[in-house]
Amino acid sequence: MTDTRRIGLSLGADLCWPAFYEDVVAKLDPTFRIGGNEVRVEVERVTIEPFALRAPVKYDVLLDRLTHWYHTSREWIKKAIIMNGTYVLNNPFTLQSMEKHTSYVAMMRLGMPIPETWMLPPKEYAQTDDLDVTLATYARMFDLGAVGGRVGYPAFLKPYDGGAWVGVSRVDGADELQEAYDGSGTRLMHLQKAVHPFDLFVRALAVGPQVNVIRYDPDAPLHDRYKIDFGFVDAAEQRLLEDMVLTINTFFGWDFNSCESLRREGVFHPIDFANPCPDSQVTSLHYHIPWLVKAKIRWSMFCAVTRRPMHLTPRWGEFFAIADSDMTYQDKMAAYGDIARRRLDADRFAEFCDENLGALDEVAYEYFATDRARQIVHDKVGTMFPEDEVGHFTDHFWGLIQFWRQTEVDRMGGGR
Ligand SMILES: Nc1ncnc2c1ncn2[C@@H]1O[C@H](COP(=O)(O)OP(=O)(O)OP(=O)(O)O)[C@@H](O)[C@H]1O
Ligand SMILES: [Mg+2]
Repeated sequence: MTDTRRIGLSLGADLCWPAFYEDVVAKLDPTFRIGGNEVRVEVERVTIEPFALRAPVKYDVLLDRLTHWYHTSREWIKKAIIMNGTYVLNNPFTLQSMEKHTSYVAMMRLGMPIPETWMLPPKEYAQTDDLDVTLATYARMFDLGAVGGRVGYPAFLKPYDGGAWVGVSRVDGADELQEAYDGSGTRLMHLQKAVHPFDLFVRALAVGPQVNVIRYDPDAPLHDRYKIDFGFVDAAEQRLLEDMVLTINTFFGWDFNSCESLRREGVFHPIDFANPCPDSQVTSLHYHIPWLVKAKIRWSMFCAVTRRPMHLTPRWGEFFAIADSDMTYQDKMAAYGDIARRRLDADRFAEFCDENLGALDEVAYEYFATDRARQIVHDKVGTMFPEDEVGHFTDHFWGLIQFWRQTEVDRMGGGR
């Protein structure tokens, strides 16, 4: 008997990664044997249309890119999870309710060295009926400079729910803080002590239990922030960074997220890790995009074929028990990482990949040399760069992908 599982791609303006994903899956043409049955996987793009709340949903797994800003899709996805048992990357309920602020609080609670962070009441308010009386009765005048003094400089004033560097200012003293705060309008802001100076900045990208720790340069232009570098952390640091992002993701039910950490005096301080569904464009990830495409294929296939259930209730007690124990920070992080890997079925996932997706590396290696893949890079670059730079940047990103192919030969053992 043949059984079919469907993976839906819920997309916005995404152009490159979905096309890479679909092409590689088509070439892989995967068939799985589960309990004597043959299982085939189909991938299709989800359309946006009216839906009945009781209507069936045909997808076993959704890779979602829209939830955080497109509410028809968000509500359809929430219904699909509750009503139809669909598995979604990422959990839209926690995505909606846990912003950067809550992620800081939660990971502080687990003992991670998040820099000192304060929340400030907003500078301005949108007028509402009860506003004046509420503020007159309860809002206390406060001394911004005193808060700055408690946090220490340099510091970052940034939105409590931010993204894409919008509204982020570095402040080096009380005057700059005042100026930045005065310009923040109605946004609710954090003041966070800078990790300064730092000697390494990394972004750990995670898809299910798979983690890629990439060196990152926040001062470079957007297309050059993700670096191509090797051996910049030792084995213990690598494990710690993996434990960190997997802990965050498991805590919130996010399957695809990234964690930014800065190393200062040998300690990694995470500063931004509520990024479910982070930037997946070839124009940002270049060399690293094939890793991401493969990681998404493996994890979505695993979730679809094994009918992985979503856990909707937060299971935080096990983490808090470790946080409250007298273990060292290192041991706590390792213990959190063990919980995360267990909840992510890391061992079963590795076996699944060995048994069923052995051809993926080779297929992706071949695919990322094709004219079709190059055309997708070209089309993506065309949406991001001025016309007279499209040729140059297409060659640039394509060249970095070809460099990835060379390093793949080494990684796969050079046996070609
Ligand atoms: N505490 C900090 N110490 C040092 N640098 C910081 C700190 N907070 C923010 N930054 C710098 O400011 C940048 C933007 O801050 P942050 O990542 O918190 O904002 P964001 O809007 O979520 O950005 P993005 O969506 O691009 O990741 C960081 O990449 C980092 O370079
Ligand atoms: Mg950031």
